[in-house]
Amino acid sequence: MKPFLFIANWKSKKTLVAVREWLEIFTQKNESKDQIIIAPSFPHLDFVKNFSAANMLSFSLAAQDISSFPEGAFTGEVNGVQIKEFAEYVIIGHSERRNLLKETDDLLAKKVDQALRVGLIPIFCVQNENVSIPAGVRIVSYEPDAAIGTGNPDDAAHANIVAEKIKAKYPALTHVIYGGSVSAENVQEFSAQEHINGVLVGTKSISPEDFIGILKHA
Ligand code: PGA
Repeated sequence: MKPFLFIANWKSKKTLVAVREWLEIFTQKNESKDQIIIAPSFPHLDFVKNFSAANMLSFSLAAQDISSFPEGAFTGEVNGVQIKEFAEYVIIGHSERRNLLKETDDLLAKKVDQALRVGLIPIFCVQNENVSIPAGVRIVSYEPDAAIGTGNPDDAAHANIVAEKIKAKYPALTHVIYGGSVSAENVQEFSAQEHINGVLVGTKSISPEDFIGILKHA
């Protein structure tokens, strides 16, 4: 099988107790050796990292956001240097942040700069093939708005065409992944596509059983 990333985006959904339960169940039940990236909320990065080390789990960690500012007097911001202590990746440009928090292309480009400055790998989300992708990005997640959290995924063949177009426009990309209502039932349709190199999973990453189902059926 081609290299394929599985990203669990827990969004703003879990308490620390729920995070611990997820990790315990996942540790007992997961048998796959797939490349997995887990994106918890900021306050849980430290716990997940320590749990992972103590149990010799092989997944990587992503933050769900990064400050557009460096270290300094920016109350409430979490900067790249702080994130790098715990995570290798950072999700930037998710449509929930673009739509609900009004994050603009300019702001997102600054966030990418901050990530790259400290050696974090951006996972840059785009909603269609026309969204501009800042220089230095290597991993893009194609996530059409209508598919996120709705139970209505994009047609896999269409997602493949979009991924191909994005790669043609940005040849330096190593991965174009797909996000939006991925489940155990439909993941195989996406993993079978030539230009899709992973899935970013929201709703179906919240329960460890659902996420393991996705790993098993890809
Ligand atoms: P979803 O979320 O799996 O709930 O559609 C996907 C995403 O956050 O990109």
